[in-house]
Amino acid sequence: MKRILVWDIPTRLFHWLLAASFAVAWASSGSDEWLSVHGFSGYLMLGLIVFRLIWGVAGGNYARFSSFRHGSLAGLAYLRQLLAGHARRHIGHNPAGAQAVFLMLALGLAVCLTGVLTQGGEEGHGAAAGLTGVAVGRLFKEAHEIAATLMLLVVIGHLAGVALESWRHRENLPRAMITGFKEAPDEALDDSPASRRYPLVGASLLLSAIAFGLWWFSYALPAALAPKSTADGAAPQVAFVGARLPDDPQWREECGSCHLAFHPNLLPARSWRKLVAEQDKHFGADLALDAPTAQALLVFMENNAAERGPTEAAFKIERSLRDGATPLRITETPYWIKKHKEIAPADWRLPQVDSRANCAACHRDAEAGTFEDAAMHIPKAAPNARF
Ligand code: HEC
Ligand code: HEC
Repeated sequence: MKRILVWDIPTRLFHWLLAASFAVAWASSGSDEWLSVHGFSGYLMLGLIVFRLIWGVAGGNYARFSSFRHGSLAGLAYLRQLLAGHARRHIGHNPAGAQAVFLMLALGLAVCLTGVLTQGGEEGHGAAAGLTGVAVGRLFKEAHEIAATLMLLVVIGHLAGVALESWRHRENLPRAMITGFKEAPDEALDDSPASRRYPLVGASLLLSAIAFGLWWFSYALPAALAPKSTADGAAPQVAFVGARLPDDPQWREECGSCHLAFHPNLLPARSWRKLVAEQDKHFGADLALDAPTAQALLVFMENNAAERGPTEAAFKIERSLRDGATPLRITETPYWIKKHKEIAPADWRLPQVDSRANCAACHRDAEAGTFEDAAMHIPKAAPNARF
């Protein structure tokens, strides 16, 4: 027996970084607040998988796909032998492990691509921004969740397999994936010479870095340069800057003097028609708009109403309304109520908030009307605030 290098440095780095990025992506998937971290780990994962596909052709002997291609049923047969206690020891990937590798790479690629398409469709961000609408983005989201769940199952299977194999062959497989070395019969191929192909290592890692870098420059950098705290002392989250929505100076002037100019995409056209028709009794105020002004405002609002709006909020507000429902308040639409029901009563009473309609207190992009996930924050009560 001799000690040989089996897993070269790039393969090991890839393995642990992929495991870490998958874990982070999974842990950050539950809440909009972590969306920027989720996106970051997803782009990193995509870069890593692309690297691995290249490394599967250009890498060390044990990392090359050609060294662990087995027949389609070989994995199952191997598992049976392993359970029965007479499986042959493999220096590189065993047949079951090899098939898990291919499955994880394929599923990982599917997870990343559907993730990018979801981000593009639902949020209008990332590499696929503007490629599809919100409705298609939601379909990709479902595919994304299914692929991610399947991948989690394969990962769990992989971990169980590693544990079983380590136990059956009295060999610490996780440690071998850290050090790269294994005990092997004398005739086994040592990968140390092959792993000195550093120009290739460099080029491949660079490729991953570029994928990561694309994400970094388009999102993290502008946010890192943005002011760190708002007037109320709360640190804003990463500000994704989405596409700008149509604007109109007359509308801003007439509808932005008493409160935030609520962007037309937040209610359907029929609501705006009703609101203008009843402008003399507008929540206790008389807007006193003359007919041409009212007409001009209505044209802008109808053209950019929820049915037409490109944003996630517009799409979901419109969908949440029962057929024919004509709410005059955004805060009475089912989608708005659902999205805000977990906010603590104490937060609504904060002096900076005061009214539910004071969207700008918690949404830094309320003026723009985009209501991006990453632009929201609940103001903190100032330490010395007087109530
Ligand atoms: C004279 C002051 C005034 C002007 C001008 C005004 N509003 Fe209002 N608006 C109010 C008041 C008061 C409320 C109720 C606010 C509250 O409940 O906190 C309100 C509420 C609203 C709401 C409901 C917010 C919610 O709870 O979801 C909408 C939508 C709205 N206004 C749209 C408009 C539009 C569109 C215009 C321009 C055509 C406009 N407003 C101009 C006074 C005004
Ligand atoms: C007290 C703070 C607060 C106020 C005021 C507030 N929001 Fe929100 N809003 C939030 C928080 C927090 C979330 C995130 C909830 C979640 O994701 O579960 C949210 C979520 C949303 C979303 C969903 C965003 C997404 O993509 O998931 C929309 C749209 C939205 N708010 C619109 C509004 C509008 C319009 C107003 C004003 C009429 C408003 N909000 C007022 C705190 C607030």
